[in-house]
Amino acid sequence: MRTVDDFEVAGRRVLVRLDLNVPMDGSSISDDGKIRACLPTLRALIGRGAAVIACSHLGRPAGAPDPRYTLAPVAGRLARLLGHRVVFAADVVGPCARSAVTALRRGDVVLLENLRFESGETSKDDEVRGAFADQLASLADAYVGDGFGSVHRKHASVYDVPARLPHAAGYLIQAETAALRRLTSSVRRPYAVVMGGAKVADKLPVVDSMLGIADQILIGGAIAVPFLAAQGHSVGASLLKGDQEAARSYLAKAAVGGVDLVLPTDVTVAAECSGDAPCTVVSAADIQPGQMVLDIGPQTAALFAGKLAGAGTVFWNGPMGVSEIASFAAGTRAVAAALAGSAGFTVIGGGDTAAAIRRLGFFDNQFGHVSTGGGASLEYLEGKTLPGLAALEAECTVSAAASS
Ligand code: 3PG
Ligand code: MG
Repeated sequence: MRTVDDFEVAGRRVLVRLDLNVPMDGSSISDDGKIRACLPTLRALIGRGAAVIACSHLGRPAGAPDPRYTLAPVAGRLARLLGHRVVFAADVVGPCARSAVTALRRGDVVLLENLRFESGETSKDDEVRGAFADQLASLADAYVGDGFGSVHRKHASVYDVPARLPHAAGYLIQAETAALRRLTSSVRRPYAVVMGGAKVADKLPVVDSMLGIADQILIGGAIAVPFLAAQGHSVGASLLKGDQEAARSYLAKAAVGGVDLVLPTDVTVAAECSGDAPCTVVSAADIQPGQMVLDIGPQTAALFAGKLAGAGTVFWNGPMGVSEIASFAAGTRAVAAALAGSAGFTVIGGGDTAAAIRRLGFFDNQFGHVSTGGGASLEYLEGKTLPGLAALEAECTVSAAASS
């Protein structure tokens, strides 16, 4: 894979795909770790005389402009952290983007509006995605991929644009893949994987893959709910997303394969997901109608910490509860403390998990590696081909003429 170090950028318009999908609290950024993570690549490009066209998605808008998901606040924070002017283009490939790009000089930076305001970005139809990729590629002379958190998405800006432009990988992608490689070859055992978080449909199948890789799988967060249901427990008012039949089959498979699949034995519940709602700890077997599971309980936190204490390697993706609300943060804090105190190699994967541990007062240097990509790092560890990495490894396949 060519890297930015051996890539000619001086005087070129370089489209840089970043993952600036930061957690937001209304219009304010609640954690800027992902923005900081892309500074080395941007600084190198600026310093070497590129005209930089940065782009990213934010959240999951439905393929049309939606002010709730504008990247405008991110442009401001990026400029501050970079110590450099960042022009914000209020569309992706429309007149604002085109005029901002036309005005670009060496060392200038423009940030395009949220890529997912264009339905072509995420389309499953190769032609539709390709047509949007043509428009994006026509803005630039070269492409740098550095949005590690989105390399598992077969999206236009991740997968199709590098086929249309000379391209290289940025420093973040290099650092992330170097750290994660340590978890795929000669891993120190026991290898524990802790899974939590909210994207249940994405993550449930990962548990299946991890059954063939890890020695222990500890499950909290919303993804624990289908497992609790599969164990025959009532889950009260919890959102039962995901397939409990699949969860049941994973429990059986773990038993056969000798994998220690550890589920919550107690949980913190409340009638609603709010800091004002009175909360209580109940046994996982005793969740009442109207109660929502919002964190693992203290007994489970101690159980998880005990399991993690002996691990040679730990990979953790997804908070154990709604950790942005103080009354549902204890499980996440306990797991973070267990990793921070571990003698093994610890990796935290995912912007939300990283943001959660920082909010709880932990520092990145208390862990072996803090990855900006949750889904991306999980798929990397599963051994899947990641579209964004494959595209950076491949040569351009679509002629430049087609993209103008
Ligand atoms: C993330 O936050 O996990 C990445 O930015 C990818 O976002 P997505 O799951 O909406 O594609
Ligand atoms: Mg995320």
